[in-house]
Amino acid sequence: MKRIGVLTSGGDAPGMNAAVRSVVRCAIHHKLEVKGIMRGYEGLINNEVVGMGARSVSNILTRGGTVLKTARSKEFMKKSGRKKAYETVKKNGLDGLVIIGGNGSFRGAHVLWKEFKVPSIGVPGTIDNDISGSDYTIGAHTAVNTALDAIDKIRDTVTSMERIYIVEVMGREDPFIATRVGLAGGAEDVVFPYTKYDVDKMCVDIIKGRKKGKVSWIIVVSEGTARANDVAEAINKKTGFSVRPVVLGHIQRGGSPEAFDRILASVLGLYAVLELRKGRTDAMVGLVSHGIKVTPYEEACKMDKTKRLVDKEMYKLMRILAE
Ligand code: F6P
Repeated sequence: MKRIGVLTSGGDAPGMNAAVRSVVRCAIHHKLEVKGIMRGYEGLINNEVVGMGARSVSNILTRGGTVLKTARSKEFMKKSGRKKAYETVKKNGLDGLVIIGGNGSFRGAHVLWKEFKVPSIGVPGTIDNDISGSDYTIGAHTAVNTALDAIDKIRDTVTSMERIYIVEVMGREDPFIATRVGLAGGAEDVVFPYTKYDVDKMCVDIIKGRKKGKVSWIIVVSEGTARANDVAEAINKKTGFSVRPVVLGHIQRGGSPEAFDRILASVLGLYAVLELRKGRTDAMVGLVSHGIKVTPYEEACKMDKTKRLVDKEMYKLMRILAE
């Protein structure tokens, strides 16, 4: 193996730059040449390939987003697009790729391996933490802190105005951000996929709480389960109380990665290079119980049942603490 390519794909996540930096510098350390592919699979299709040296990744460790840019490529979904991607790999003499992204990116890398035998190792980078084979994905902790900072601020107005706020957080189908900020932010409730979303029950709780002297509420909603506007409208209709929806949105993807994400990105970047060098492919490197584990892409894209149990336990605790 002489030359590898690195790309970031799908939704950006804080810490992707730290992963790029690690891949580039660790590859150079191991005497490999590195090329950067711009805009994920879009750049692979369009031959947007740039040389990378140790200095091209200077001062990016602290920066959110990704210097390689990223995209959700529709063309890559088609075999004709993947064929073009394969041609770029050949044209540039790339012996393997490091794919930094989420499960959509890994599904793509798996198909590229099956159809055209392009070797790759994945590094899990997404704020959603919805990948099996890694306890955490790069960016998820930073996103939780960003959402938490917003919720803490919302708490000030909630308490002052004695209102109910419905705060919608990102995470697709995964409740990682919702359950974490619910617990850390002292939310009164969290609406997420593995509990029954029942507005009537929620209103009963709110009315009971009011009788006990509870005057303000923060209810966190996981975007994959419900929308803040709908929940707010339903509660207002049933109780007549003043309710405000807040959608945190893409701010959760930005900002400087916190220490954990920088460290995770740096370590997984190294192991991605080492695994590629060993000839491993069609798999992702992840952090599992303090060790590095290599998981086939297909497995990595399945739902992680252990994580679901943790979410449920966190929810139960949050409810007790919100009494
Ligand atoms: O996968 C990351 C993520 O931010 C999800 O949490 C969210 O549902 C989605 O991307 C938003 O995608 P886009 O940036 O394409 O609107």
